[in-house]
Amino acid sequence: MNSDRVQEQYEEFPYPARDPADEKRRLISGSPSHLAEINHYIFAGKRDFAQPFRALVAGGGTGDAAIMLAQHLADIDAPAEVVYLDLSAASREVAEARAAARGLGNMSFHTRSLLDLSGFEPFDYIDCCGVLHHLPDPQAGFESLAAALKPLGGIGLMVYGELGRTGVYDMQDMLRAVTGETDPGGEKVATAKRLLEQLPATNRFRRNGLMADHTASDADLFDLLLHSRDRAYRVPDLAREIDGAGLRIASFIEPGRYDPALYLRDKGLLGRLGGLSHIEKAAFAELLAGNMKKHIVYCVRRENEADTVAKPTMAAVPVLRDAPGPELARGMPMGAGFSAQVDGLDFQLPLPPGAKEILLRCDGVRTLDEIRKDLPGAPDWFRFKPHFDAVYGPFNAFNKMLLRFSPA
Ligand SMILES: C[S@@+](CC[C@H](N)C(=O)[O-])C[C@H]1O[C@@H](n2cnc3c(N)ncnc32)[C@H](O)[C@@H]1O
Repeated sequence: MNSDRVQEQYEEFPYPARDPADEKRRLISGSPSHLAEINHYIFAGKRDFAQPFRALVAGGGTGDAAIMLAQHLADIDAPAEVVYLDLSAASREVAEARAAARGLGNMSFHTRSLLDLSGFEPFDYIDCCGVLHHLPDPQAGFESLAAALKPLGGIGLMVYGELGRTGVYDMQDMLRAVTGETDPGGEKVATAKRLLEQLPATNRFRRNGLMADHTASDADLFDLLLHSRDRAYRVPDLAREIDGAGLRIASFIEPGRYDPALYLRDKGLLGRLGGLSHIEKAAFAELLAGNMKKHIVYCVRRENEADTVAKPTMAAVPVLRDAPGPELARGMPMGAGFSAQVDGLDFQLPLPPGAKEILLRCDGVRTLDEIRKDLPGAPDWFRFKPHFDAVYGPFNAFNKMLLRFSPA
């Protein structure tokens, strides 16, 4: 398979399928590349977005990450540029139309390979979501991105996870056997649908209840089951390629899912894991959960030894990622815990008795110290901090609460 086959696929089926008219009613947001996440995980919450900021979205597809990031930066009037790049001209057309529908003037568009980033000034941030696992030599992709990064910059990556994709490669192998290389794309999709209807109950793809991506559109079906080249990673393979490019993982997303303590209650077993590195613990969590369909990571250069992940100190402003804290807290029954559903698992985590009072004050403006002073009885910092940590722990584990020190 050569790179043209992949390019042809995305010319015929720009991915994901998007209608620029939908920009009028919603902004698609996700990970990586949410601005609050970039700040929290790469710049320790301290990036001053009043200073020039250059981002590259490599393999931007129909534009989800590029549009989200450009919109977040435009919302705060940042002097920023988001450089969108993709091999597929059809995908770029959709992304450009989405930018035009939003009136975004902070983007530029390029049709070329991420393996050739010559001529671009170094970037503060690079997004590469769902692309490197399609390259003939993913390591070359990791290296090309790393070489285009500023010394203190960071990269947000997504690659497929092997265990959650159980059965996908069985389907791809079978479909290669029953389709011809030169069959038109539409015919391949029709063949795949016929095969899907006849899968025996024991088939590994059919038994993998986590996979519904192929039901959304023909482009999604093609991407999942008929791709001409994709590979999936386990945590140690991914960590090795990242390391080989001179980078290190600052955080997995969602961080808690990569922590065995989220799944195991047995203190004896957890104690045995105490001496493992954070990558080894993440690899253990991956085997334990068995449901990771993708791995999202924020990386920085290996020589950047600073702790790039924000910490909850007095001056930190807690930011709720998806809904303002007061709104979330108002709908919360007194004494409620934290709950999350991800990829087939339900999590119920306890919250401290004062959680609602704290969340009511997490408006994305107040610092932790201001929140503390405003609480009934204004507890001192040392009484307040463990309570806040008990709220922050579950919310941050699922990437729902982030921190910033710099102005919004
Ligand atoms: C699965 S799509 C992901 C699109 C987008 N990043 C997203 O997450 O929605 C993969 C994209 O990578 C692009 N691509 C593949 N190889 C590439 C390369 N060497 N350079 C630039 N883009 C590439 C494809 O054209 C396609 O648009």
